[in-house]
Amino acid sequence: MSEKKFKRYLITSALPYANGPVHIGHLAGVYVPSDIYARYQRLKGNDVISVCGSDEHGVPITIKARNEGITPQQVVDRYHAIIKDAFQRLGMSFDIYSRTSSPTHRETASVFFRKLYDEGKFIEQTSEQFYDEEAKTFLADRYIVGTCPRCQSEGAYGDQCEKCGSTLSPDELINPKSKLSGAVPVKKATKHWYLPLDQYDPFLREWILEGHKEWKSNVYGQCKSWLDTGLQPRAVSRDLDWGIPVPVEGEEGKVLYVWFDAPIGYISATKDLTPDWEKYWKSEDTKMVHFIGKDNIVFHCIVFPSMLKAHGDYILPENVPANEFLNLEGDKISTSKNWAVWLHEYLDEFPGKEDVLRYVLCANAPETKDNDFTWKDYQARNNNELVAILGNFVNRALVLTQKYYSGAVPAAGALTEYDCATIEELSGIKASLEANIEAYRFREALKDAMNFARIGNKYLADTEPWKVVKTDPERVKTILNIALQITANVAIAIEPFMPFSAEKINKMLNINKLGWEQLGSMDLIAADHVIGKPELLFEKIEDDVIEAQLKRLADIKAANAAAAAAEHVTEQKEEISFDDFQKMDIRVSTILEAEKVAKTKKLLKLTVDTGIDKRTIVSGIAEHFTPEELIGRQVLVLVNLAPRELKGIESRGMILMAEDASGKLELLAPGKKTNNGAIVG
Ligand code: 2FM
Ligand code: ZN
Repeated sequence: MSEKKFKRYLITSALPYANGPVHIGHLAGVYVPSDIYARYQRLKGNDVISVCGSDEHGVPITIKARNEGITPQQVVDRYHAIIKDAFQRLGMSFDIYSRTSSPTHRETASVFFRKLYDEGKFIEQTSEQFYDEEAKTFLADRYIVGTCPRCQSEGAYGDQCEKCGSTLSPDELINPKSKLSGAVPVKKATKHWYLPLDQYDPFLREWILEGHKEWKSNVYGQCKSWLDTGLQPRAVSRDLDWGIPVPVEGEEGKVLYVWFDAPIGYISATKDLTPDWEKYWKSEDTKMVHFIGKDNIVFHCIVFPSMLKAHGDYILPENVPANEFLNLEGDKISTSKNWAVWLHEYLDEFPGKEDVLRYVLCANAPETKDNDFTWKDYQARNNNELVAILGNFVNRALVLTQKYYSGAVPAAGALTEYDCATIEELSGIKASLEANIEAYRFREALKDAMNFARIGNKYLADTEPWKVVKTDPERVKTILNIALQITANVAIAIEPFMPFSAEKINKMLNINKLGWEQLGSMDLIAADHVIGKPELLFEKIEDDVIEAQLKRLADIKAANAAAAAAEHVTEQKEEISFDDFQKMDIRVSTILEAEKVAKTKKLLKLTVDTGIDKRTIVSGIAEHFTPEELIGRQVLVLVNLAPRELKGIESRGMILMAEDASGKLELLAPGKKTNNGAIVG
């Protein structure tokens, strides 16, 4: 809405939780877009800071620590290091990557809370919460488990059932138990502080619904729906021993709610970055933009702005361009199911392909709807777009210059109409590229940036310097001059998206990094300037690389299915006596013959050597095994089962098998070859 001219930019990216590494969903949703925006604004010469850091509080971190038998601090130290390093390797240009366990943050968040507390901006309220009398502690929702009231599955959490996905409250759980001690929790009164969001309703309506109609429709729509549903006071403290202590005397054991302290982390990070931090946070000349995923919308558009408003000293965000979610090969990305492509692993496995990932995630970013990452698409975009268009154009321009002029840039002569039309086309793209980035339409912007290379490619294909050189060498000088000017333009246009490749192009052109205002110019490289050695920007990705990734995912899926099956173990049968057990005569046997029973789908007729005799057994396993794969196998046979007739064949005994939850059968056999007739028991 506002056409206002800002003097500086404060770009924030959601602080990732330090309880796991970052995956492609985080990147496509938040970090790739934020880095494109920050790099673009810097290239334009604007005063920009981009801040981020690890979100190191919250219950999941304490649960992870407990599960692994380490402290929460050890958990966050581990993941903070992994995340920070991976971001840096991907070329994220944060001016600071901070953390919320830092002293600056503790101080900043405490002072923020205390100001609101002293000014009476909170409501103090005592309510009944679940308490574990054995562990002597209040229980966060995640620390209470029980049976899901919706799908009846065990192990549902007090806030959510992971089996059926329902959002729950601890009161709804059937047979709630403390995850800490296993005790049945009791209700106990506890005092907390609440931010009365309902009081901020008029401010939020005016500021968002009237003032920011230009926000993305998914963001605006979610805000409107929250406001229309009616805002309620929100607790800003918790009974926990991990977090920033509530700065009120005599209130030990209570900490700030993680969603109260985390966004203040943007302020703390700025403080850690520069003593001049106030000009970014307290001046209406600053444009603050929050990059987040859709699950963070309410916190960044409703809760944090209300906190900032209550505080009074700080500016509000100008925009919150939240993205939707990225799926992986058709399924929701899930940290607990390991269904993800982890950034640090990708960087280890695909060295030098940082820009490929940045490119694919931007080209496929879930800007207006959830989207899917597939390895086939990754391969296709690399091979058909990065290699075939961008890499090919740059390579041809440089190689031909080396070949014809030993690397010295030829001077352009008179331009043809076609030359002028090409140059004209490029300047039109610049305007579109800028408009798209300014409106957070990064997918479209990336297409524009790639169009510089596309047009360059077409220009070379149409002008055919490799042919013309034989008849009109003077004309070729102009063609290659233009091709090299376009190459320099490509480096500028792609820098926000693919900084490593932009740098490589500049190096090959032997020029310094250019600014955004130079985009569109055809005078970027002087005649006689000597370019560097051409190298390939991108390389083709072969099928085996993609197949290895798909296999890894298939293995994960199989492991998850097996784990899920293991959870579905049926209950133990009624007790039997030792004598009952002794009655069963189970022998190691070998299958000698196997054939299908005519006119049945399921039955196989087996001839089995039980050591006692050779006998016929009819078994319902034809859908699981072919006769050929059974012949010669050792199995366990219940030999004293009363004979039965099946399809006119007398069956004398039963082959023992295990059946998993999916109904798949496995033959049981001795661990190594054993004599037939050996007794099992
Ligand atoms: O959703 C998340 O991953 C949160 N850790 C984001 C926090 S953003 C900000 F408020 F710090
Ligand atoms: Zn459920």
